[in-house]
Amino acid sequence: MDDPASKSDEFLREIAAAQSPEELEQIRIKLLGRNGAITALMRGLGQLPAEQRREAGATLNSLRDAVTAALEEAGDRLRRAALANRLAGERTDVTLPVLTGGIGAIHPISQTIDEIIAIFGEMGFVVAEGPHIEDDFHNFTALNIPPDHPARQEHDTFYLPPRPDGSRMVLRTHTSPVQIRTMQAQKPPLRIIVPGRTFRCDHDATHSPMFHQVEGLVIDRTTHMGHLKGCLVEFCRAFFAVDDLPVRFRPSYFPFTEPSAEVDIGCSRAGGELKIGAGGDWLEILGSGMVHPQVLKNCGIDPAEYQGFAFGMGIERVAMLKYGIPDLRTMYDSDLRWLRHYGFLPLDIPAPVRGPLARGAAA
Ligand code: DAH
Repeated sequence: MDDPASKSDEFLREIAAAQSPEELEQIRIKLLGRNGAITALMRGLGQLPAEQRREAGATLNSLRDAVTAALEEAGDRLRRAALANRLAGERTDVTLPVLTGGIGAIHPISQTIDEIIAIFGEMGFVVAEGPHIEDDFHNFTALNIPPDHPARQEHDTFYLPPRPDGSRMVLRTHTSPVQIRTMQAQKPPLRIIVPGRTFRCDHDATHSPMFHQVEGLVIDRTTHMGHLKGCLVEFCRAFFAVDDLPVRFRPSYFPFTEPSAEVDIGCSRAGGELKIGAGGDWLEILGSGMVHPQVLKNCGIDPAEYQGFAFGMGIERVAMLKYGIPDLRTMYDSDLRWLRHYGFLPLDIPAPVRGPLARGAAA
């Protein structure tokens, strides 16, 4: 039998040199496993004369204890090292600035929609949506625009091919049909905001065949013109972030509201530069009015019990005014250089009020 004492140093050195828990396990099996070196030495004890067996047994026991303790200690050491290694690899420096490269930019239209929703959201409005392809009833007739009404001509409607019954669906010319769908589907009180795509057969520097509008509708028992004014003045001031922004209500006409008003905001054009705020000039940004009693009736709402107000606004127009974008058509050019200049950081949190802080920061 080999001298266990001479083996001890060799075993302990081997254990100390192990580089991983897996390697250590192999060593344990090699020494203490069923066919291990120490196990074999233990087995050999039986062949020794009785007088030597006692002493050799004690020596082997202490060898086995020393090896077991060394294995445990090495196991601890390797597990700690592996953990430290992993933690170092997963370390995140939370003080690093936010990554802005390579994650794209938010288009000014999406940004503007988010801002409008945030402002009206704070006033208790909820978002509603409707189909882009509408029937004549929702897009026109229910809104008090019967077939021969002159307002139809102003809409430059895209018509789809006739259906078997001869009727033609349209690409909705405004977001107002969602007023009708909402009033048909829900009971008042209602307070909705409807951002969405709209379509008209028109294309030049200030018109695009596809554009965006946002519609608002409030219906309740006691809603009146004062609510309409307060709500829209508040919106204009929040959206343009000008606390004392002058807002003017000018009598107008829409078939679906009575009375109707267009909303202008104050601006100045001194030196050829347009500036939103007090300045003696006016810019039209919104159509609005008290919902026409006939429109309420068309949706099964009793005008003697309920009334309300509505408004509609072109999103491109207010986005261009707020962010100084001179040409509408550039919005749809899909030009990355334009988006890098006018776009917004995707990681910004939408807030009711926002200036062009992040403009140009996105890559
Ligand atoms: N639908 C109108 C348009 O496209 C905008 C509008 C005006 C909507 C007045 C309204 C409103 O709800 O009350 O020109």
